[in-house]
Amino acid sequence: MNRSKLTPNQLLSMAAHEMRSPLTCIKGYLTAIKDGVVSDEGKDKYLGIAIEEADKLIDLLEQVMTISRLDEMLTSPQKEDFDVSELIRRVIIEKYNDIEAKGHSISAELPDVAIAFADKLLIKKVIANLVENAIKYTPQGGNITVSTHDDGDKFVITVRDTGVGIKDEDLPHIWDSFYRSTANDPTLYKGHGLGLSIVKEILTSHGESIWVESEYGKGTAFRFTLSKQK
Ligand SMILES: Nc1ncnc2c1ncn2[C@@H]1O[C@H](COP(=O)(O)OP(=O)(O)O)[C@@H](O)[C@H]1O
Ligand SMILES: [Mg+2]
Repeated sequence: MNRSKLTPNQLLSMAAHEMRSPLTCIKGYLTAIKDGVVSDEGKDKYLGIAIEEADKLIDLLEQVMTISRLDEMLTSPQKEDFDVSELIRRVIIEKYNDIEAKGHSISAELPDVAIAFADKLLIKKVIANLVENAIKYTPQGGNITVSTHDDGDKFVITVRDTGVGIKDEDLPHIWDSFYRSTANDPTLYKGHGLGLSIVKEILTSHGESIWVESEYGKGTAFRFTLSKQK
């Protein structure tokens, strides 16, 4: 079975499973506070954790909603000419707070204008997911580079980081829904393993390719193709 694409039932059952643990945790902390068994100092800490767990649930819901809408969006993609350099700059601006919060530096090596032909909203999701991963899987003070290269027929867009890297044995699985490398501490790197399956599905349906090069402990580069303006 191609695990990168789940049936709606599989998606629902896996998402429900993923929701149980944050919800149990939130309920536990709130109950402890209500029962008055937590000191004032502990209260702040518990509420902080409950908020973090709620954020996780929101992320998960957003990704599951994206996936459930994806089939429809992919059967009638709204393809148009757009400037991918501008789109990349916009994603970087939107993620800038997260980039700064981790003390990363980011550079963009982009042509002034690079007109591609694709569903702009979906390609924005692709770029945003790859940049989010680069930010997340790079320890404090790393470097992220986003570049566009003109390959003649197509553009090739690269998102590179100086992060934790991916082990060879994980590489074939990272595109699967809900797959997360066991090499990474889940308390340090939060997520549900849905981002790359969404990325892959969007690009595959566009007839584009994506590939990854990674050195464990050194960093990762994701590269994907994009058709030029018609
Ligand atoms: N830039 C990256 N550096 C290191 N590992 C990565 C990177 N991007 C993705 N991965 C690995 O691939 C897995 C799947 O990524 P993704 O589907 O986006 O899920 P999530 O971000 O929720 O963990 C991650 O859990 C991580 O193990
Ligand atoms: Mg991700």
